Amino acid sequence: MQIRVDTRPIHEIDCDALVVVAFDKDSPGGALPWEVTRAADTLASGWIQQLYDSAEFTGKVFETAVLHHPPGLAAKRLVLIGAGKRDKFTTADLRRVSGAALRFLKPKSMPVLALALDAGAAAAEQVAAAIEGAILGDFEPDQYKTEKKEAKVVEEFVAVAPGGEASLEEDARRARIIAEAQNFTRGLVSEPANRMTPALLAERARQLAAGEGLACEVLDQDRLRQLGMGALLGVAQGSAEPPVLIVLRYRPADAPEPPAHLGLIGKGVTFDSGGISIKPSDGMEKMKYDMAGAAAVIGAMRAIAQLRPAIAVTAVAPAVENMPGGRAQRPGDIVTTLSGKTVEVINTDAEGRLILADALTYARRLGCTHLVDAATLTGAIVVALGHVYVGLFSSDDALRDRLLEAGRAAGDKLWPMPLDDDYKEQLKSAFADLPNTGGRWGGAVTAAMFLKEFADTTPWAHLDIAGTAWLEDAKPYLAKGPSGVPVRTLLQLALKMGSA
Ligand code: BES
Ligand code: MN
Ligand code: ZN
Repeated sequence: MQIRVDTRPIHEIDCDALVVVAFDKDSPGGALPWEVTRAADTLASGWIQQLYDSAEFTGKVFETAVLHHPPGLAAKRLVLIGAGKRDKFTTADLRRVSGAALRFLKPKSMPVLALALDAGAAAAEQVAAAIEGAILGDFEPDQYKTEKKEAKVVEEFVAVAPGGEASLEEDARRARIIAEAQNFTRGLVSEPANRMTPALLAERARQLAAGEGLACEVLDQDRLRQLGMGALLGVAQGSAEPPVLIVLRYRPADAPEPPAHLGLIGKGVTFDSGGISIKPSDGMEKMKYDMAGAAAVIGAMRAIAQLRPAIAVTAVAPAVENMPGGRAQRPGDIVTTLSGKTVEVINTDAEGRLILADALTYARRLGCTHLVDAATLTGAIVVALGHVYVGLFSSDDALRDRLLEAGRAAGDKLWPMPLDDDYKEQLKSAFADLPNTGGRWGGAVTAAMFLKEFADTTPWAHLDIAGTAWLEDAKPYLAKGPSGVPVRTLLQLALKMGSA
């Protein structure tokens, strides 16, 4: 999909559909607070106002109405989309409205779509949100459908900001890079586990690195043995697919002093059967998304390579398959991690924290001064926060605040979770330094407490994305399946750390 900014007045915009945004009729300031929408209404002889007057259209979120051959406009159709209450409307909502407009019109064969923005002071933010929303809405994980309804594609999306400045082109470019990186991640996650093996994930990372000028190193099983990553190897040993540890490096042209070095660590379990502590079969097919953390850090590196923040960033993605079998790790096994600490494997289904333990230690050895991991780590975070908020855990207040700020800028929802030493009571093993599970209660917290042992003294934060990396149902603005969370947050963090 081509992306373009157009700063001409709306009547000149030649397209298949010009979308204008209107609000709930009971909004303070009325239903048409945006000048651009009022202009469209005037040009189209009061069509919008008539719709409101007859109550055919009320301005509820994602409500739509279509007018053909609108008088006074070069566009073939004028499309109205509802945006809800004006006083509640945020940039994140605009991103969704834009995605919903694209997903409403795409199946109707409209190659050129335009969205009219309020421009003014918030023009840059609006252009970015509109473009991100459209690109994210355009993503469809249908690569394995052989009977596609005749391929309908939106060829061009135009963000219309009448009277806007030339600098909007740069905002549009950044938005495109960010959303395309998120879709890249979604593409990786949507692959089934018979295709997306640790080896294929490594291959995709290599291709990405070659295309974007990143350094890439893939540590194979022999190398992992030499290094002593006993926890990672223990998880992998039940699978016929050999494990890998993927490292992607970005270095800026000039870094600030003292140099900060951000480590992004992503859980890459390409399939999580649970191992010997096998999962129930109901819903097990979804465990192909247990590599969404790895896919997110790899996707974030794609955008980082293109946007070039002034900070060193290294992504570390351990990739394994967790399977039962004659060679599989057993409950009761004790493994020695790269850090030297020993772990008693109480439950082979608590595998994410085992591979992350070694990856965190490795990232510290690579010189990372700040660590952020993303992982589909626990069912318990889904119980706690549902499918709305990412669980944010951190040993460092400043890093936690930076992530909350990055999440706000990105439009991802992050909720701070506790990480008090009181929970350590639950992480006692009679036979090793640590058990890999902390009992029934507070499972998301004890999982995070386990990781903290391996982040050691390095400022570290953990994003539990088990509830948010996969959409159970399609939204008006996004397809069902991988969401690409938290690519935008990781990217905003790198940009912020690079500019401070
Ligand atoms: N990959 C799962 C967590 C998960 C659950 C992700 C649901 C997405 C949706 C993880 O490896 C796991 O199995 N965790 C166990 C830990 C338990 C055995 C301590 C869990 O949450 O049940
Ligand atoms: Mn598991
Ligand atoms: Zn898992």
